[in-house]
Amino acid sequence: MTEQVGGTCAVVIVAAGSGQRLGYGMPKARVPLGGEPMLAHAVRGVVRAGVAAQICIAVPADDAEMADIARDLAAKSGAGPGIIWSVVDGGADRSASVRAALGALAAHITTVLIHDAARPLAPSGVFDRVTAALRDGAKAVIPALAVVDTIKTVVPAGLPATGAGVEKVSGTPARNRLRAVQTPQGFELDTLRRAHAHAETLDAAAAAAITDDAMLVEALGEDVYVVQGSTHSLKITSPTDLLLAEAMLQGPLRPRWVEG
Ligand code: CTP
Ligand code: MG
Repeated sequence: MTEQVGGTCAVVIVAAGSGQRLGYGMPKARVPLGGEPMLAHAVRGVVRAGVAAQICIAVPADDAEMADIARDLAAKSGAGPGIIWSVVDGGADRSASVRAALGALAAHITTVLIHDAARPLAPSGVFDRVTAALRDGAKAVIPALAVVDTIKTVVPAGLPATGAGVEKVSGTPARNRLRAVQTPQGFELDTLRRAHAHAETLDAAAAAAITDDAMLVEALGEDVYVVQGSTHSLKITSPTDLLLAEAMLQGPLRPRWVEG
């Protein structure tokens, strides 16, 4: 069944961010994890999942080293499965990087998975669940996990006695309805292209508030379906996340990480 989607399914890996919060002074996708650039793990995970007829990597436009790493990974991984590889210059924000990659997809591609290089350990099971839902007629699919923390909404506020600037709670959404959303997110290509065409018309503030592709599809009024994500798909944002990913890869905990 995988081949059915695999023949016309592309995977976009967005790797064009600057990694400010990780603080390595280099794009996050180039930061070493288990002795290799983070991007190498992301690429290997996508190839291993076996769903991609094309893999398109968006790298920072001004980073020749990153482009070389991406081309090298393509050359090393591409020989066997006959995948079309593309490397494109990313944009100023994540959405612009996704749009640049969508512009490089081959004519026969009908579905696309958008995946963050910052989630280098996403397991094959997640790719399988997302592509299975696309096969079953979903136009948009996201992997997600139930939220374990209680989440509050807040507004700016001053403390009663001093007026000191803090925040105060404005609400507590029901936790059993909340989901923490991951990548790869899967889409019918035409639907995602329409969603991104709409995004290009947004003003700067609205564009800055876009944190995933599904939001754009929601804005079109399309249904976005949810499948089970994985704790292995953690996003590496801060140095603590990198430590955890290192431990998952090679530390003493490794044999206990069995979740797909
Ligand atoms: N991304 C991208 N193009 C951008 C911004 C982000 O391709 N202009 C990608 C990142 O490379 C990453 C994913 O989007 O794989 C999620 O972004 P994030 O975790 O925010 O990564 P960075 O933007 O690199 O990190 P930071 O926000 O800390 O600078
Ligand atoms: Mg960012």
